[in-house]
Amino acid sequence: MGSAETKPIGADLIAELDRLAAEFGAEIGGLATEQDIRAAQARYLGKKGKLAEPMKMLGRLPAEARPAVGEAANRAKNAIESAVTARLAALDEAELAEDLGRVVDVTLPGRGRPLGTLHPLTLVRREIEQIFLGLGFEVRTGPWIETEWNNFDALNTPPDHPARDMQDTFFVEGGRILRSHTSPVQIRTMLAGPPPVRIIAPGNVFRRDDDATHTPMFPQMEGLLVDKQVSFAELKGTLLHFVHRFFGPGLGVRLRPSYFPFTEPSAEVDAACYLCDGGRKVTARTCRLCKGSGWIEIGGAGMVHPNVFRAVGYDPQAVSGFAFGVGLSRMAMLKYGVDDLRSFYEHDVRFLAQFR
Ligand code: DAH
Repeated sequence: MGSAETKPIGADLIAELDRLAAEFGAEIGGLATEQDIRAAQARYLGKKGKLAEPMKMLGRLPAEARPAVGEAANRAKNAIESAVTARLAALDEAELAEDLGRVVDVTLPGRGRPLGTLHPLTLVRREIEQIFLGLGFEVRTGPWIETEWNNFDALNTPPDHPARDMQDTFFVEGGRILRSHTSPVQIRTMLAGPPPVRIIAPGNVFRRDDDATHTPMFPQMEGLLVDKQVSFAELKGTLLHFVHRFFGPGLGVRLRPSYFPFTEPSAEVDAACYLCDGGRKVTARTCRLCKGSGWIEIGGAGMVHPNVFRAVGYDPQAVSGFAFGVGLSRMAMLKYGVDDLRSFYEHDVRFLAQFR
């Protein structure tokens, strides 16, 4: 205490104030958030801050010593406040610089979000459904796993028919099979209610084939119309309308005598090749689609066999009807000019993206 008396009054306080200002200056440099900076400011300038004690002592000094200490106190406060302002400004600037660094280059090409497309087989199914809905048909579906009775017996297909061979049909557990055609939906529909019936039944079917022109699973579409006095002419008219709506007007339809167990008479349905229009547009011999025949097979058809009506409890004397079955992948190939059936199942986006 004795030696302190010999210094000019207030010199210790001035030194302490200058020291605190310097200390603050060193501390604030390491602070990176406004919150930390404000907290440090309060630790020095707040009511109970580090500068509060020297300020209190200032009041107790003799009057002649006060101006110098007061000046030191202001210097310290100002130094602290301007250090705060400068540090906050520096932080703002750094933040802005970071934002600017992130700024988007609007001249860059956009990042596209690729849109999916409907599968060509779905497009074809939907289009055909619309055509038949317009004729008053309903859309029905049936299960892929079927009973042999629905798939064969009720369709007048005897046990020794070649289609019932293990080589042709997939047999699954429980004596069931994977349906080999959509025709069992005829049976299900007729069992479910009385005539009249006017349905189409699109869906996948399964056969033990696998080569360039056959896949073990493929989509078919069945048609069935049952009413009083239905004629073969109505079958042909319906198929003509369908083909004209689907491929374009004026295209010919040809019915070739054939055999199916569930129809009598039966026919194979050919559409005139839409590329060469039955050989009329280019020399049929050069057409890549029909290979020169002028016609393309699209399915089978016929008048419902009386035994089919008997199997479902319909009276063959009272009602008649026609049925048909078309291959949807075949329709899609013809419509879009696809030459390999397998393209539909390989899921190559370059192929699929062409159908928009
Ligand atoms: N179910 C036959 C098949 O898959 C196609 C068929 C032919 C269906 C004649 C019919 C029909 O309804 O009447 O080969």
